[in-house]
Amino acid sequence: MPTPTFNMEHHWLPFTPNRSFGSDPRIFVAADGMLFTTHDGRQVIDGISSLWCVGAGHNRKPINEAIKKQLDTLDYATAFNASNDQAFKAAEMIAAMAPGDLNKVLFCNSGSEAADTALKVALAYHRARGEGHRNVFIGRERGYHGVGFGGMSVGGIPANRKVFGAALLPRVDHLRFIHDPVRHAYIHNDEPVWDEDLLLELEQRILPLHDASNIAAVIVEPVAGSAGWYVPPKGYLKRLREICDRHGILLIFDEVITGFGRLGTGFGADFYGVVPDMLTYAKCVTNGVIPLGGVVCSDRIYDGMMKANEGAPEHAIEFFHGYTYSGHPVACAAAIATLELMKAENLFERAGQMGKKLGDAMHTGLKGLPNVVGIRTLGLAGAVELSPIPGAPGKRAYDIFMDCFHRGVLVRPAGENIVLCPPYIVEQAQIDQMLNVLADAIRRNA
Ligand SMILES: Cc1ncc(COP(=O)(O)O)c(C=O)c1O
Repeated sequence: MPTPTFNMEHHWLPFTPNRSFGSDPRIFVAADGMLFTTHDGRQVIDGISSLWCVGAGHNRKPINEAIKKQLDTLDYATAFNASNDQAFKAAEMIAAMAPGDLNKVLFCNSGSEAADTALKVALAYHRARGEGHRNVFIGRERGYHGVGFGGMSVGGIPANRKVFGAALLPRVDHLRFIHDPVRHAYIHNDEPVWDEDLLLELEQRILPLHDASNIAAVIVEPVAGSAGWYVPPKGYLKRLREICDRHGILLIFDEVITGFGRLGTGFGADFYGVVPDMLTYAKCVTNGVIPLGGVVCSDRIYDGMMKANEGAPEHAIEFFHGYTYSGHPVACAAAIATLELMKAENLFERAGQMGKKLGDAMHTGLKGLPNVVGIRTLGLAGAVELSPIPGAPGKRAYDIFMDCFHRGVLVRPAGENIVLCPPYIVEQAQIDQMLNVLADAIRRNA
């Protein structure tokens, strides 16, 4: 069969070097289980769950069938002033999985919308309680909360912010990054114990600077995913919770990557034993098959918002926010089927078990290779950090990504890191294959 050709003139690819893409395109035309088929008929292992989404693997029939059935039953229904049966069921399932009193589920369509929604809930909640002056947000350096103006502002990946300076939210500060490349370059499925208290900075600089009474919320990823799988110091999130509690600041966990099994638990909150006031989710909730995201809020937040409206007329809306596709019935049907499938196949537990194997394989197979300066593994994900090519930041990781792709493995370049985060159904043989290809690529690109 002749290799199909594509018109490269019209599709502007996201977060992709478009100028060079056409000369060496990476185009998938089919997927099943752990494997993609490319347009030129090659098989490629999905080593990154397609951007952390496809936890249950590709082409899962129960999810596909649920979507098809839903399309034939209720294709779409307005989201405002009415809803649909699937949204209620999905919300109930997500709330049942979320820890503590996180029981109120808002729907949107992506992780970016989820981050912006959570920030807006924080502002609205404080205002409803008569503390509208609480409008400062604290993010963290190298955090990623999507590409909306809110998420970008609290995010801390320099390249994502650089061009948009004047449009970033004004009242935002950032915690220091959680990485010590000297003492904790290698993290093997554990929590690094730091001598230094990283959160002293929050207590001694950031809170006094803005005055704690003005701070609405702190938002962090439990494990910093997009930056390259950076693991927080032991006790960090617990201490962050305590500091927020002491000062009436809401704590938001961005669980777009850590939610639904990546760490072997429902959420990162469960893994670390810390319950935030809100958590955001997306990606794995539908196995990536259909866009869906959202925010799970505590009863306290929801009740506070409703209480503030007690005196308002019955037809008054309490929160002026939402999307046309909030709780889309087809997306919610996909979520229901995904969560049922993950439960039936014990996929969260499997992610935890296979995570140990991935961690062992990465540390054994990559440590000591040329330019490797760190390896961090936790849950079913890991990053190998490489020393940069002088004057060409990110090029080494990009070249290794391309090399791996040509040899049948999809990895993710993130700055100077290569990240692996395969679907939870990954087998040991596939881990070995990914590691062999990656190790060879690291050697070849030395
Ligand atoms: C932690 C986190 N938050 C938010 C997002 C943004 O999600 P989306 O690309 O669906 O808008 C991502 C995407 O990778 C993410 O990793």
